[in-house]
Amino acid sequence: MAETKPLLRALSGETLPTPPIWMMRQAGRYLPEYRATRAEAGDFLSLCYNSDLATEVTLQPIRRYGFDAAILFADILLIPDALGADLWFVTGEGPRLSTITTEEDFAKLKSADDIHDHLAPIYQTVSNLSSALPKEVALIGFAGAPWTVATYMIAGRGTKDQGPAHALMQENTPLFEALIDRLTDSTIEYLSAQIRAGAECVKLFDSWAGSLKGEAFDKYALAPAKKIISEIKDRHPGVPVIAFPREAGDKYIGFAKETGANCVALDNSVSPEWAAANVQVDGCVQGNLASSHMVTGGQALVDETRHIVQTFKNGPHIFNLGHGITPDANPDNVQLMIDTVREG
Ligand code: CP3
Repeated sequence: MAETKPLLRALSGETLPTPPIWMMRQAGRYLPEYRATRAEAGDFLSLCYNSDLATEVTLQPIRRYGFDAAILFADILLIPDALGADLWFVTGEGPRLSTITTEEDFAKLKSADDIHDHLAPIYQTVSNLSSALPKEVALIGFAGAPWTVATYMIAGRGTKDQGPAHALMQENTPLFEALIDRLTDSTIEYLSAQIRAGAECVKLFDSWAGSLKGEAFDKYALAPAKKIISEIKDRHPGVPVIAFPREAGDKYIGFAKETGANCVALDNSVSPEWAAANVQVDGCVQGNLASSHMVTGGQALVDETRHIVQTFKNGPHIFNLGHGITPDANPDNVQLMIDTVREG
């Protein structure tokens, strides 16, 4: 049967008159209804593991705005949690985890096959969504890429320059690579289970890919993505994958071809003109309005939205932000962006 959901059509390489649209972090603190449900759940992690409430917050932006895709409400750090690294969130600061810096720490982690019991509520959320979503809305599952998840596991928190992870890579390469391999295998397991539960597309978030340079990028961003994507394609033929090697710069060129991704998500550091000429030539791209426009709004938002739509209009394109929407965004600006994309 021919695909009818706009997001899946773009991912299969079709150029559509109006690009499908969704937004990274579309369920989040900028929405009053999200804040209310999060308060009901108690805290962020309880919200992730409560299938009914996670289903509800995933649906909120779909109801309010009519996006073309819903992204499962969860977090990239649930894999470390499932592997047995303690995880908690400090309000106003971000995630904290027990650190993995020695062979002893690593030996305590579970194997990739053992994550499913812990993650069962997430699969339940996917399954709920797959029956609850309007028929034209695609359901996106996701995971963090091994390098990005490893940066949090090694440091035990978010870091500006990923220093602790780079240090471990240099000082104990075998341990670092064992962690990357464990995360690669777990990610395959996790995404595969999301697809079995009803995800129609999956996205791999490598938010810190930009801090890997040269050979390190090829070994720890490109190679794991390639392994994950080829395994997903073997197990689930036809399910598209979006890769997000954020701030990869020139390494965006050829990334989709090399890894087998159906689409690469673009951050704000690349211009639409450059990306259309160098990246979109190989297939679908997603992006890349700066999330700051969701705070500032106005004519600049309209102009830049039109500019992005125009620049990518001759090839497959999914409209999105270059990174997640921030808590200080104005929900009205999201509507203005959508109206501008669809004004056509
Ligand atoms: O896009 C979506 O709406 C789906 C849900 C989603 C969340 N996090 C929910 C979330 C997704 C896809 C993520 C991905 C994620 N999580 C990434 C990769 C993408 C990126 O933004 O670079 C990363 C690095 C994380 C790890 C993480 N989770 C951090 C560093 C933080 C704290 C910073 C912050 O924004 O508060 C989180 C928390 C988090 N994940 C929130 C949400 C809605 C905020 C939690 C809250 O309600 O307090």
